[in-house]
Amino acid sequence: MSISPVQNRVAPPSHAERLLSWYDRHHRELPWRVSPSAAKAGKRADPYRVWLSEVMLQQTTVQAVKPYFAKFLERWPKVTDLASAPSEDVMAAWAGLGYYARARNLKKCAEAVANDHAGVFPDTEDGLRALPGIGDYTSAAVAAIAFNRPSAVMDGNVERVISRLFAIDAPLPGSKPVMKAKVRELTPADRPGDFAQAMMDLGATICTPKRPACALCPFRDDCLALAEHDPERFPVKAAKKDKPVRVGAAYVAVTDGGTVFLRRRAETGLLGGMTEVPTTDWTARIDGGTGVEHAPFDADWEACGAIVHVFTHFELRLSVYRARVATGSEPAGWWVPVERLSEEALPTVMKKVISQAIPTAFAKH
Ligand code: ADE
Repeated sequence: MSISPVQNRVAPPSHAERLLSWYDRHHRELPWRVSPSAAKAGKRADPYRVWLSEVMLQQTTVQAVKPYFAKFLERWPKVTDLASAPSEDVMAAWAGLGYYARARNLKKCAEAVANDHAGVFPDTEDGLRALPGIGDYTSAAVAAIAFNRPSAVMDGNVERVISRLFAIDAPLPGSKPVMKAKVRELTPADRPGDFAQAMMDLGATICTPKRPACALCPFRDDCLALAEHDPERFPVKAAKKDKPVRVGAAYVAVTDGGTVFLRRRAETGLLGGMTEVPTTDWTARIDGGTGVEHAPFDADWEACGAIVHVFTHFELRLSVYRARVATGSEPAGWWVPVERLSEEALPTVMKKVISQAIPTAFAKH
């Protein structure tokens, strides 16, 4: 707190002061985080852990990320270990987290840090943004959390807090620059890393999308959305277009010995470099065929229903076919015993397809 020279009175605590004292008491314990008391004692988070967690947390919840984070750290404790890991192993370890371009970029970024920076992450926002796959969000988050830089860290949680605090009526995404400017104004010179994490925790635990716990919020006295009695109205979003529906077919070939035919998707594009059973060529813009005539090779294909999977920009409905086959004559691919399918880099949509054809495929063996 500071003494106002004009009125000689104690100034009220700033937003940052209120938020940080809330964070000191109510922060979440997270495996990649250094607690505020340890941070005050000078302990800094490991940039590798911060970067890995931030890449994983984009589009994915903390609960879903925790086991993946633990698995990655156990297998690849340092960025140089990840850099020298085979790509297939990294993709397989990532399988199920979604948005697979993140995994490919993760590997490229680890290689750049290992090869071009002697295994040490750059410690500025600009230096970090120059690495492959690191954009505005990740560079700001790593600079703030790992290096205590006063970067304005914006994610969905922070946008919600800021849009409510200032009752920003302009819709997202156009209002992003205005929100970022507000965050910049509020970010303190002291403890900017804790401030960034506190904003995210506040958005995740108090300033929630539905039924926010305003009575417990450190900003309750000057939140303009609360003053209007309608915090849920914020953030205002531009009207969403309905997701287009795409269709296609997937073909699960199984041998009498219980092996399944798999192949690798093209490196670029949706689910690039991941493993799949053969499918027709569907994309976000193009339907694939849905019948047996599109199967990758002749076999006694039998229809066994359909699955639905929702991607960011479209919904995909795949008709699923299964056939018993002999191995040997198929185009490029490989055969995997059903009980080893969980070791493959199979994205969730493919696990749904295989489970539709072989209901016990991913049961614990
Ligand atoms: N969500 C994404 N990154 C986070 C972080 N560092 N702390 C809390 N929530 C987060």
